[in-house]
Amino acid sequence: MSSHSPHIPDVLVVGGGIIGLVTAWRAAQQGLRVAVTDPAPGGGAAQVAAGMLAAVTELHYGEHTLLGLNLESARRYPAFVAELEEASGQQVGYRSCGTLAVALDADDRAHLRELHALQRRSGLESEWLSGRECRRLEPMLAPGVRGGLRVDGDHQVDPRRLAAALVVACERAGVDLRRTWAERLVVEGDRATGAVLADGGELSAGQVVLAGGSLSGRLEGVPADVLVPVRPVKGQVLRLTVPRPYAPFLSRTVRAVVRGSHVYLVPREDGELVVGATSEELGWDTTVTAGGVYELLRDAHELVPGITELPLVETRAGLRPGSPDNAPLLGFTELPGLLLATGHYRNGVLLTPVTGDVLAEALVSGELPEIARAFSPGRFSSPMVQRVASYEPVLRETRLQEQSV
Ligand code: GLY
Repeated sequence: MSSHSPHIPDVLVVGGGIIGLVTAWRAAQQGLRVAVTDPAPGGGAAQVAAGMLAAVTELHYGEHTLLGLNLESARRYPAFVAELEEASGQQVGYRSCGTLAVALDADDRAHLRELHALQRRSGLESEWLSGRECRRLEPMLAPGVRGGLRVDGDHQVDPRRLAAALVVACERAGVDLRRTWAERLVVEGDRATGAVLADGGELSAGQVVLAGGSLSGRLEGVPADVLVPVRPVKGQVLRLTVPRPYAPFLSRTVRAVVRGSHVYLVPREDGELVVGATSEELGWDTTVTAGGVYELLRDAHELVPGITELPLVETRAGLRPGSPDNAPLLGFTELPGLLLATGHYRNGVLLTPVTGDVLAEALVSGELPEIARAFSPGRFSSPMVQRVASYEPVLRETRLQEQSV
């Protein structure tokens, strides 16, 4: 399978978050020699993310193509988890618990009714429940809950455990984890041939996959006409813990839109309760703010009043890698030798299995599988799209206000 000198990896993956690691692991399973550069493999947005696998409850207008990829990755999750747990010897906290999206007032209810109609038009399974039925499922919900959507197919995984398992699976598959930054892409002739590393070394490779999350657009040396239109979208997230006598506090993921802000509570089997998330366009700022924590607790408390009794054990902010159309960039760029696996925005954890599969196939065969073709980076490469992409933060805010359901 390998085509280069024994000292040169076939593939260099820049970025060792869950997307870079799954790409490396799957490529190594295909017989390729793979190296990953990252000072802390397994870090990044997965250390903050709640891990909802919410293809149905996070459906948005205008994202039907993305829905297909999200559903396909959700379908692959059980087998992916079984294989990863076997390969790493570690559990990843996959929980097929379902999700309940609820409404607290008439506006929220109208909003949820619209989401329900969109789900039905899209052929998705969800069931409308009265407030009483919601509380029967989740007795800790506020008495004022006006109704909700039961989505039994939207599950969860623990992203921190997922990342840790991927590190071990990569090591066991022979992936060379270089614990340093890649500072600059090396381009020779018209081809990407490796990267200059922060430790002073240089690593050549047959192909390079840029999987740097929200930092993907910042790698030096990428030619200006190979646009990597990814920007950071900050999310503040809280972690609480449910003491044993209270367990189970919630039995499934519970979410709502409270006065226009999304809030979700993700209960783990070990008692962790993750509350997220803000969505802020503030560049690479990861400050946890009093306002962010206040809003999350205020909204979560309206939904589940008993939450204020729980110990608050962690507050943290992460950066989603947002793309101009909220969908990932997967596969070959116009620079030979350079592929992208980035821009997963709200769906990085959900899209981990399918991303690993399609990138590995692309690296081996030179062809991007059909399911990923709509997500090729080439969709942003016309001059008109590049101009639009540079105004994207403004456009996106407008679009979210118009389309978010
Ligand atoms: N998918 C959850 C979030 O982005 O906050």
